[in-house]
Amino acid sequence: MPRLLDALLGPFVPLSFGRPGLWLRGRSFAELARLDGRHAIVTGANSGIGRAATEALVALGARVTMVCRDSSRAELARDEIVRATSAGARLAIELCDVARQGEVAAPAARLDDPIDIVIHNAGVLPAHEVITPDGIELTWATHVVGPHLLMRLLRPRSTAATRHVLVSSGGMYLAALPAPGRVPTPYDGVRAYAETKRAQVALATLWAEHDPEGPRVVAMHPGWANTTAVQTSLPRFHALMRPLLRAPGGGADTLAWLGTIPIDALVRGGFYFDRAPRPTHVLPWGHDPAPRKAELWRWLESITQDHVDDARR
Ligand SMILES: NC(=O)c1ccc[n+]([C@@H]2O[C@H](COP(=O)([O-])OP(=O)(O)OC[C@H]3O[C@@H](n4cnc5c(N)ncnc54)[C@H](OP(=O)(O)O)[C@@H]3O)[C@@H](O)[C@H]2O)c1
Repeated sequence: MPRLLDALLGPFVPLSFGRPGLWLRGRSFAELARLDGRHAIVTGANSGIGRAATEALVALGARVTMVCRDSSRAELARDEIVRATSAGARLAIELCDVARQGEVAAPAARLDDPIDIVIHNAGVLPAHEVITPDGIELTWATHVVGPHLLMRLLRPRSTAATRHVLVSSGGMYLAALPAPGRVPTPYDGVRAYAETKRAQVALATLWAEHDPEGPRVVAMHPGWANTTAVQTSLPRFHALMRPLLRAPGGGADTLAWLGTIPIDALVRGGFYFDRAPRPTHVLPWGHDPAPRKAELWRWLESITQDHVDDARR
């Protein structure tokens, strides 16, 4: 799609984030490269965008480890993907609640070498405040702390070609980077969601700063896709926008693309949507203050350190 047309579509958010944007941009999308012999990990792989990404990656030849928190939902999804793609032995399940740090270590230790692609897709939009057994609010635990811990635990087995993709949300454009671990008072799930999705985008840039020789960490947003999360957490939005919503596969398209493009084409700390780099802020006054970002990194390093130390013993 010519850049000018893409830029013109940008401000019309429902069109850009919905099906029309994908349709228009998709007319110039090239066929994706094969992933035979590659190993991908997808969190929250049993549903919606994570499941569609899993299906796309195995269809391209990758071996995929589905990181899911419920065995029956995971097995059902795996069986359906096997039937749709004949992936069979190339699909494995690791049970893990990514919001519980103690559970992230076990599958991280069992996962095979090497690991090429990690899609941190698990996401939640809670109706009320939930504090995990680690004492962390649920959106922080799921979107930021769990992925950071998983990246740290997988770091020794990263190769020069390893890439991590954090699935953020276009909703983060409306949020400022919050103080680490903080949620709005009184609790507002939509705001907590958007703020932690903003923190994911900052996290990708922090990995680029702190580990410039390490795996490439990027963030992306999938647009608006018709998934269980949208149906149950945002019923009014779903009812209003339904005709415009993408299928989950449309939300997952950029995930598959990010998994296939040459590693040197991936910008460390970059933010992507519909197979193109995008700005991380659109409001003229928007930026992430450096001290706030530094505070986020220190907080994440410190609350995950015990689990990293345990894994090294
Ligand atoms: N759909 C959209 O329009 C949209 C827009 C922007 C961003 N996103 C992002 O896209 C991602 C996928 O969302 P979706 O729309 O596809 O929703 P979904 O269908 O509800 O899928 C969410 C997945 O995450 C899993 N999950 C949640 N918490 C988890 C945890 N603690 N540990 C392991 N797995 C966990 C869920 O597992 P269970 O089945 O066990 O609950 C489910 O498999 C999320 O990060 C979301 O924020 C979606």
